[in-house]
Amino acid sequence: MNLSAIKGFRGAFLDFIDDPFYVSELESVRYFPDGLLVIENGIIQDFGDYAEMHSKYPNLSITHYRDRLILPGFIDTHIHFPQTEMIAAYGEQLLEWLHQYTFPTERKFKEKSYAKKIASFFLDELLRNGTTTALVFTTIFPESVDAFFEAAGDRNLRAIAGKVMMDCNAPDYLKDTAQSSYEETKALIQKWHKNGRLLYAVTPRFAATSSEKQLQLAGKLLAEFPDVYLHTHLSENVKEVEWIRELFPHSQNYLDVYDRAGLVGDRSIFAHGVQLSPAEFKRLSEANSAISFCPTSNLFLGSGLFKLQQAKSQETPIKVGLGTDVGAGTSFSLLQTANEGYKVSQLQGRKLSSFQALFLATLGGAKALNLEEKIGNFDVGKEADFIVVNLQATPLMALRNSGELPQTLAEIGDRTFALMMLGDDRAISATYILGDRAKIT
Ligand code: GUN
Ligand code: ZN
Repeated sequence: MNLSAIKGFRGAFLDFIDDPFYVSELESVRYFPDGLLVIENGIIQDFGDYAEMHSKYPNLSITHYRDRLILPGFIDTHIHFPQTEMIAAYGEQLLEWLHQYTFPTERKFKEKSYAKKIASFFLDELLRNGTTTALVFTTIFPESVDAFFEAAGDRNLRAIAGKVMMDCNAPDYLKDTAQSSYEETKALIQKWHKNGRLLYAVTPRFAATSSEKQLQLAGKLLAEFPDVYLHTHLSENVKEVEWIRELFPHSQNYLDVYDRAGLVGDRSIFAHGVQLSPAEFKRLSEANSAISFCPTSNLFLGSGLFKLQQAKSQETPIKVGLGTDVGAGTSFSLLQTANEGYKVSQLQGRKLSSFQALFLATLGGAKALNLEEKIGNFDVGKEADFIVVNLQATPLMALRNSGELPQTLAEIGDRTFALMMLGDDRAISATYILGDRAKIT
């Protein structure tokens, strides 16, 4: 074995090996107060308790993070890179917000150099917040897709994105046609899907901005390229749902508009789902599709309270990840997103534990993106994307989380709850991509 290619990280590690919405914490959470992670060429080779393992690796070069918690990198299952600069746009709900703020901003991304500049800022912001993988909306302009993938590739990130398809109910400057969106998407899939760690998602914006023909062609692309993803918005806002009913009178419900075009499958990720009916929950469960739960956005735009517990029920289990949905979302931090998710649950009389929230931000997100074989926890063979977290990053956090890292699950569960309520980018001490520390400019 060439030991020089191998490196080790020592510290407290927490990850998930099963879903804490369905099994006990003892069965789902893995916590090593003093653990060792062994990495070779960016891939996890070994993982466990330091005392039990270290004699196997006498010459290992080890980075020791004392008083830090090491977690798998966070996974953001829904975010828009071109909306970075228009985060915190005042006063409107979804449809007005799109016309007043979003569309004029996205117009700027026809210019590749501008798109590159914002893509670079955006990816640094993700990494600063401990997000190592994201499913990303671009704009209708292929230049913006290239800009995003080039910047993500430069950073060795596992990322998924796609060109937005929209051929109606939008300003002329932000419309493609059914045919041009088909052809451009096809070329972009051929260029970017499985290019290194990058993956492609066919991305109709939402049913309101696509003709039936465009949705059908999106379905044709999924049939032609069965391992690409489908990424869109679904049932976010009451006025939007009424509009979809008017636009597609022959569909049974919002999800059915996508279903008729062949867009509802096990590689489909739908953002929001705030207004879903029981029949739609059932269909999403049957199809093994995923929902991205975007609490900061759902609250900011006044969309409503996502029924997380229904999505994670025994009857209609659905894959769920967390989404920041920047720029309707108000933070790049999945910790702050979990914070708002907790409050959304409280408003429905339900609890969201820190373990459940951290599961959604890591292994749950990986499962939502069908990437659980590659990322999401510290299993041997997975890609070594991880973050080093300071539970005492601010004076208030240091007071609330005082003392050494605890030994028990109950105690670490309490500390991570304080982390998710009080933490943000300040709590992320370092972000590692394939075992290398990311340089954030
Ligand atoms: N629905 C259609 N487009 C968008 C968007 O850009 N953001 C959100 N939150 N919802 C949408
Ligand atoms: Zn969105």
